[in-house]
Amino acid sequence: MEDVVVGPLDLAARVDEALAVQALAFGLTDDEIGVRRHVVLRHTANRGVRALGATNEQGRLVGFVYGMPNNRIYWWSTVVQPYLRAAGLDGWLDDSFVITELHVHPAYQQRGIGRELITRITDEATEPRSILSAIDVESPARRLYRSLGYRDLARRVLFPSAPSPYAVMGAELPLRR
Ligand SMILES: CC(C)(COP(=O)(O)OP(=O)(O)OC[C@H]1O[C@@H](n2cnc3c(N)ncnc32)[C@H](O)[C@@H]1OP(=O)(O)O)[C@@H](O)C(=O)NCCC(=O)NCCS
Repeated sequence: MEDVVVGPLDLAARVDEALAVQALAFGLTDDEIGVRRHVVLRHTANRGVRALGATNEQGRLVGFVYGMPNNRIYWWSTVVQPYLRAAGLDGWLDDSFVITELHVHPAYQQRGIGRELITRITDEATEPRSILSAIDVESPARRLYRSLGYRDLARRVLFPSAPSPYAVMGAELPLRR
């Protein structure tokens, strides 16, 4: 099996490659790619944003993760806050490293790359915990997150413009091995 190497990713420089991976892994229309491109580039200016990429032997990007320390003024945080607050859990929005995106090219899935990406990026976080949102269905992503110690903090969370409800999940750091 070919070697895949995980290391730091210059997200601003490689945004189009990252979105091509996301489009294949998660499914994005051309319009959605255009919107995401602006969002990702805006995120690269946020405090403490970090990204890791998985590259194959040809140097092609086959997976990536990025995230940042949460700030309650961020759009994502303002959407999930009422749901967490209703459950008495909105303290999770402080001192938390948010996983914003995690995607692995379908041809490279189920080889441990997703697990390595999220484990490595959170190992390098100084925050004591991590939060994320995932579509609220049983999926490989949800199974991966649970196996790492993420648990449901809120469910049926609706993001404006997203057709499916999301679950918000949180885990203490370091993630469980
Ligand atoms: C979620 C995702 C990043 C996982 O990446 P991956 O490299 O395939 O994951 P790994 O090989 O590291 O697998 C880790 C764990 O994920 C789960 N998993 C991965 N693929 C799975 C599958 N097809 N069915 C069930 N569980 C699966 C398992 O728990 C697995 O652990 P195990 O190998 O000990 O059984 C990848 O499936 C993906 O890109 N999915 C589409 C995009 C997406 O949903 N991203 C997350 C958005 S919130």
